Amino acid sequence: MVEFTLDGARVSAPEGELLVHAAARHGTFIPTLCHDEKLDPYGGCRMCLVDLEGAPRPVPACAQRVREGMVVSTNGETGALRRTLTEMLLAEHLSPNPGGRPNELTDLAEELGAQAPFLLPDAAREPYEDRNRLMGYDPGACILCNRCVRYTQEVMQCSALVFEGRGAEARVVPTHGHSWLDTECELCGGCLSVCPTGAIHEQFLGGSPAGHERALRKTKTTCTFCGVGCQIDLNVDPETKRIVKVTSDPSYVSNEGNLCVKGRFAFNFVHHPDRLTRPLVRGDDGKLHPASWDEALSLAAAGMNGVKERHGAQSIGLLASARLTNEENYLLQKLARGVIGTNSIHSCEAT
Ligand code: SF4
Ligand code: SF4
Ligand code: SF4
Ligand code: FES
Repeated sequence: MVEFTLDGARVSAPEGELLVHAAARHGTFIPTLCHDEKLDPYGGCRMCLVDLEGAPRPVPACAQRVREGMVVSTNGETGALRRTLTEMLLAEHLSPNPGGRPNELTDLAEELGAQAPFLLPDAAREPYEDRNRLMGYDPGACILCNRCVRYTQEVMQCSALVFEGRGAEARVVPTHGHSWLDTECELCGGCLSVCPTGAIHEQFLGGSPAGHERALRKTKTTCTFCGVGCQIDLNVDPETKRIVKVTSDPSYVSNEGNLCVKGRFAFNFVHHPDRLTRPLVRGDDGKLHPASWDEALSLAAAGMNGVKERHGAQSIGLLASARLTNEENYLLQKLARGVIGTNSIHSCEAT
């Protein structure tokens, strides 16, 4: 641990911790835009500048590590600097708040009371169209913070995004200007998840409540597609009660907010009309008929008991699945061993 001074108070932090995190733990919020805990320190947007005694100029708190005896001030002239930076960013962006998507830049502007003094004549960026149906990119909302490109390189290692152009023409595009579909992109949506302004966004959200994602209600659950068991948040439109997108939080232990294409985008099955919502039991006519859970479970139990009586417990085997939760798989083996009396239980993922 090291001790240092933060806005006049003596505080301590593990040596080498990033100043922005140490300050947050001590209740001092330093705004950031290009910083993401998952990514290496970058120091690109300068929004987190603080005064450091002895330094010739303000330093970015997201790239500065704490050290013994340092004296840091977060409430000096850097406050005015942040406001000016925010206004400059707003002046460069034609659509700082497209579609009501969560936007850290407009949140910050509101907090600092910053408004675009004018819109630069070259703020209108060339639109970007991509033929994939899951992710879109709106250059008018992009603040060139590089989070998405860094995510592709540092986390996903897909090398599918690059910066293109300079100055007012700069924007993010899939490698060589191809569609995302023609690059190494696996459509995991990770670059989308770290974008602070919604510039990279889900393409299919037209039906979200009044176009405003903040109204969505989140329900935490486990992805059912594979045994990794990623933790996800189903974002539900409170009016239609339909899932409109899936997100994940960096604090979730098993996957740290990262998902694959299935977990992030393949949720439409939940509302598919063909999906079974109640048990079906085959009748004497050979056809499947809706039944209550009690009826279906009694019938299944009677069937299994009949097999056990006629052929013995070892004639019954159960197939578990990594698509079930650990708890459900545990209960299944209890049913096999403790109730039916067979050790023949296996997971279809084990082979
Ligand atoms: S969606 Fe995933 S795989 Fe595709 S570019 Fe973004 S991070 Fe890479
Ligand atoms: S698309 Fe988003 S994450 Fe990427 S540079 Fe633009 S604002 Fe940053
Ligand atoms: S998000 Fe992908 S890796 Fe994670 S549990 Fe779902 S299918 Fe598996
Ligand atoms: S958040 Fe520190 S420089 Fe961008």
